[in-house]
Amino acid sequence: MPAKRTGHKESMSVLNAIHSLRSVRDFKPDKVPGEVIQKLLVAASMAASGSNTQPWEFIVVQNPIVKARLKEPMLERWLERMRGAVGMSQQMRQTYDDATVMLGNTEKVPVLIYCCLDLDRMGSKSEEVRYGSIYPAVQNLMLGAHALGLGTCLTVHGSTSTRGEPEVKEILGIPQNVKIVCLIYLGYPSKRSGRPKRKPIERYVHYDKW
Ligand SMILES: Cc1cc2nc3c(=O)[nH]c(=O)nc-3n(C[C@H](O)[C@H](O)[C@H](O)COP(=O)(O)O)c2cc1C
Repeated sequence: MPAKRTGHKESMSVLNAIHSLRSVRDFKPDKVPGEVIQKLLVAASMAASGSNTQPWEFIVVQNPIVKARLKEPMLERWLERMRGAVGMSQQMRQTYDDATVMLGNTEKVPVLIYCCLDLDRMGSKSEEVRYGSIYPAVQNLMLGAHALGLGTCLTVHGSTSTRGEPEVKEILGIPQNVKIVCLIYLGYPSKRSGRPKRKPIERYVHYDKW
């Protein structure tokens, strides 16, 4: 039986979605329906994880007052880091400027999703396995969002002490055994993005030997 069509975007092929996924930093104010967020979280949970531990915890923030409180430490730490950043290419400077504007607009972005790891559920697994057990889920979420016509931007705001993790954990009441890994900004894009700019893969592939 042919798959039921639930809209043009949703029927985007996986490869099409991969080839057009971009970071979106400018969003329409439109609310993202709860059932869409639920669909994305379920897509995230289909990802692989070390020994199928499924160590993820997702905190979805939509309340503008909470988003504004979260912005404060994240923006302060980011601006501190930026003051020390010198010698950037013009392209990198542009990305950082766009990132700063998005962070400054955090409370206006429809949805924030903190993607976290429950370290207790990972036992003695190595750091590689820990982090490798959350990013496939994050990518599923981002590709799923893109296929449904939404935009995302993966950020590491709030993910380390130099990025405001202690303050963010306090505001959200995140327990000690849970580590923030990244923060996804989610909403409907306010403009179309071009294709990802990537170097030719031939430069980085080795067959049979380096
Ligand atoms: C680990 C990681 C951390 C990132 N951190 C940020 C961030 O803090 N702020 C931001 O705006 N974008 C962040 N990005 C998005 C990258 O800047 C973006 O993927 C890259 O510039 C390529 O652009 P594209 O996704 O539009 O192709 C991050 C991406 C990754 C994978």
